[in-house]
Amino acid sequence: MSEVYPIPAETAKSALIDEKTYHEWYDRSIKDPEGFWAEHGKRIDWIKPFTKVKDVSYNGDVHIKWYEDGTLNVAANCLDRHLAKRGDQTAIIWEGDDPSESAHITYRDLHERVCRLANALTDLGVKAGDRITIYLPMIPEAAVAMLASARIGAVHSIVFGGFSPDALAGRIQDCDSSIVITADEGLRGGRKVPLKANVDKALETCWSVKNVVVVKRTGGNVHMVTGRDSWYEDLVAKAAPTHTPVEMSAEAPLFLLYTSGSTGKPKGVLHTSGGYLVYASMTHQYVFDYHDGDIYWCTADVGWVTGHSYIVYGPLANGATTLMFEGIPNYPTVSRFWDVVDKHKVNIFYTAPTAIRSLMREGEEPVKKTSRASLRLLGSVGEPINPEAWTWYHRVVGDGRCPIVDTWWQTETGGILITPLPGATPLKPGSATRPFFGVVPLMVDAEGKELLGATEGNLCIADSWPGQMRTLWGDHERFKQSYFTTYPGRYFTGDGARRDEDGYYWITGRVDDVINVSGHRMGTAEVESALVAHPKVAEAAVVGYPHEIKGQGIYAYVTLIQGEEPTEELRKELVNWVRKEIGPIASPDLIQWSPGLPKTRSGKIMRRILRKIAENDYGALGDTSTLADPTVVDDLVENRMNRV
Ligand code: PRX
Repeated sequence: MSEVYPIPAETAKSALIDEKTYHEWYDRSIKDPEGFWAEHGKRIDWIKPFTKVKDVSYNGDVHIKWYEDGTLNVAANCLDRHLAKRGDQTAIIWEGDDPSESAHITYRDLHERVCRLANALTDLGVKAGDRITIYLPMIPEAAVAMLASARIGAVHSIVFGGFSPDALAGRIQDCDSSIVITADEGLRGGRKVPLKANVDKALETCWSVKNVVVVKRTGGNVHMVTGRDSWYEDLVAKAAPTHTPVEMSAEAPLFLLYTSGSTGKPKGVLHTSGGYLVYASMTHQYVFDYHDGDIYWCTADVGWVTGHSYIVYGPLANGATTLMFEGIPNYPTVSRFWDVVDKHKVNIFYTAPTAIRSLMREGEEPVKKTSRASLRLLGSVGEPINPEAWTWYHRVVGDGRCPIVDTWWQTETGGILITPLPGATPLKPGSATRPFFGVVPLMVDAEGKELLGATEGNLCIADSWPGQMRTLWGDHERFKQSYFTTYPGRYFTGDGARRDEDGYYWITGRVDDVINVSGHRMGTAEVESALVAHPKVAEAAVVGYPHEIKGQGIYAYVTLIQGEEPTEELRKELVNWVRKEIGPIASPDLIQWSPGLPKTRSGKIMRRILRKIAENDYGALGDTSTLADPTVVDDLVENRMNRV
């Protein structure tokens, strides 16, 4: 039995949802989803109100539609509708990489900036439905670009600034973007990131791009291509400060976000407008128990879905004050997070377990020397949080006062699906606890048989919620294959989970060939294809292994082509090669030279064995008799790289 943390009296007093309300609302949301979502669909402003709530089939061709005959503009919901009441309230607090730089942007100011960029994009010929690739650092212009895109009905595709030119090019080509919005350079931990130079490199292979808009962040020297590149500052200075938002259908695409799958190249996850905004704003309000006037900080990057739903769309739709942080947790010191909390009097703080684990290693003093008295609620996202990190977060960061919401969700889900609600859920360290309203988790075994009661298995969701992805860009077939064919009629998450006797869910991690490195999702297939693209590599197999800080590390088994020497230099060269091909987040942590890989007689690599060896759990390799050459396993065990 794990320890239970009751709801603190202080939290219970002011929480938006108490335990009784949670159960009432949850039951209603399951018994009468149409009625429940019709009611909560009204939380946003519709230009033409919807009359249909839900049209979903997880079978056959699979279609997912919410509020389909309603029309709205997402940016108007995040800005215009707040102006009368909150024009002078801060919408975004921006905290720069350098602690001496910060800014407060009011709703009125943000509205004007978005209108100007919307006009400038229109002048460049960008129309509703066009794709805009955004490759920006964590500066307010990233939020402005997202909202300007939404305002004109375009579809944004943000590419994380840590991705390489090749990875960027692949994402631009896949959706045929006509425009890229970037910056001269990014700034993280005092180091410059050559964003514009990366764009130039990427565009050598992208023919669809007509315009590049460049924000001046560092003033660094960059090459501007005449006729293609323009400075953001010049464009918005010339543009009009008002703009009429374009009326969009509820099911109009809002954004694309590429994420790793278990096979092949990254998938363009498509989210649409109405249902997404209802779900992002509703989860933001109730999961974070957001009250008017609260200062809310999510430390994610807008390059990931967490930044989309819980830095920009959810909070701004709710008229919240959201903090955007350009830097990293350990610059200039390991107290940075807590210094920022004190500086801006942050009430709600949402981060990833990997950040907690790396700060935990520095001891309590860098935390304890800060006040953190403003904190009321803590959150965790992106990977399982181990109970040790959870209790440290609770005891040291939250001084034992603040509940922790461990929020489980995915790029595909658009918003949080399994989570505590602070005033409604007693906590267990390491458990994402219970489903949000309208969400029906389902546990199945490998054959798809539903498992009841306390159990362990594969996590599916029985029915749709408004924030669910609608398709994969240009590949509806892959969408069906990836999510609805393993267990027909159900959405398969790719995660394994345990459900305990209280009905609490404990996510155990991916059960497919996706690994989670520092909360970033990586397809092992992507790292493998980057490795085999190296001229000296004949074959590669990549698996995850437990890593103290990152959650999972990347372990690569590499077979060199005949005659190549396995040297330390080559090892370093391969690590750099993968960094260059994909980005630093994909760097292998360990590379084992493997004269052979364990294969079945039909040539299939037995990853189960490779995972075990990488986990240093080589005593229990299971049946190896079906291998074409069982002796390769002995060599791999003998030369294993992880001996902890
Ligand atoms: O394995 C789960 C893990 O992250 C995966 C989704 O990754 P991504 O699409 O990049 O989105 C991350 C941010 C929502 C999931 O399939 N994951 C996410 N949150 C948790 C988690 N695992 C355990 N506990 C969580 N709270």
